[in-house]
Amino acid sequence: MLSKKNILLGVCGGIAAYKVAYIVRHLIKSGANVKVIMTDSAKAFIGPLTLSTLSKNPVYTDFFDTESGEWSNHVELALWADIYLIAPATSNTIAKMANGICDNLLLATYFSAKNPVIIAPAMDLDMASHPTLKRNLDTLYTDNVSIIPFESGELASGLVGPGRMAEPEIIHSYLSDFLSSSNDFEKKKILVNAGPTHEPIDPVRFIGNRSTGKMGVALANELAQRGADVTLVLGPTSHQFDFHKNISVIRIQTAQEMRDACVRVYPSCDAGILSAAVADFTPLSKTDKKIKKSSNTLALELVKTPDTLAELGQLKSGNQGLIGFALETNDAIENATGKLKRKNLDLIVLNTLEDKGAGFGHDTNKITTIDKTGEICTFDLKSKKQVAKDIVNTLKTIIK
Ligand code: CTP
Repeated sequence: MLSKKNILLGVCGGIAAYKVAYIVRHLIKSGANVKVIMTDSAKAFIGPLTLSTLSKNPVYTDFFDTESGEWSNHVELALWADIYLIAPATSNTIAKMANGICDNLLLATYFSAKNPVIIAPAMDLDMASHPTLKRNLDTLYTDNVSIIPFESGELASGLVGPGRMAEPEIIHSYLSDFLSSSNDFEKKKILVNAGPTHEPIDPVRFIGNRSTGKMGVALANELAQRGADVTLVLGPTSHQFDFHKNISVIRIQTAQEMRDACVRVYPSCDAGILSAAVADFTPLSKTDKKIKKSSNTLALELVKTPDTLAELGQLKSGNQGLIGFALETNDAIENATGKLKRKNLDLIVLNTLEDKGAGFGHDTNKITTIDKTGEICTFDLKSKKQVAKDIVNTLKTIIK
């Protein structure tokens, strides 16, 4: 995957900078073209000569060389790169990236980059666990920067815990996976639904649930980044999202509107992923006026809503894929398998509320998937972005 790819490597000042020599070596061995930018403090940890020798290119450190009068054009460097990898990315550089501070060539190139940017953070234990870092990484994540997670282990300070930069081999395979999946959904049209529905009771009240839509939006963004043309039917969530430019968003309120939009869009799609937490019941009648608390009890008569996923399962043609979600509190595998069969799905993604960090509102999720043949895969607790990757990778095997 890396052969002939242009990899721009930004190196910040941290002890992990010494490992960059190995990253460059692996990249060159894989046939990539490598150019390196170093910050001033990076030079204290590894010599530019080492990196220019290994990369077979001059190393860029300043905007201009006063002696030769040469100007290092950050825009050109950014355009040259198929991927801009910043490793190690220090807390200082991450903070500047998240806040638009541009006081060196590495950062100016970041702010000019149009192609994917990947960072491999590295820092000491306390810095790694500081809430500021989490905030800044969240900002970068929203800005579409991919983050290679820390490794845990002994740190330069002698402390032990998360903060180590991922090993060069891990970074190399991350880049390779990233490139192999970068456009694999080109020309595919995918329907995703997400979020809750609100079923009106009167003009001010509704029946709803705690879904934020984060999982479905992560799926839509992952698919769009991989080249798919995505239609996202999104329920009423108050969470603010950034949507990739390949996503068309249809906003709906009720289960009926969810059904109508999905049934309209699905026939022209290659696949659908239905992650929305659709209300199963809606009030039989909605009053035009606010219900007054004139009596001690109030009985609402509810009727079943349309089951969008089951309807798409009926509409599904031989070459279309369909993935549903199941939220279970008991007999999870059995119940989810029942839904997979009843709704004619290729795959069902099972969440349980019992797993810590999984479910509504969290940024992480823990899933188990069950396919048509009954094969069960259990995944670790991961960020919803990583979970989206796992699900989209599985979808790739379904629609080929
Ligand atoms: N679903 C749907 N329309 C509904 C209810 C659910 O499309 N009216 C979809 C969900 O988007 C999800 C899947 O069906 O992909 C399973 O949802 P879940 O709430 O787990 O199960 P239900 O089918 O509603 O069954 P139950 O509530 O009895 O577990």
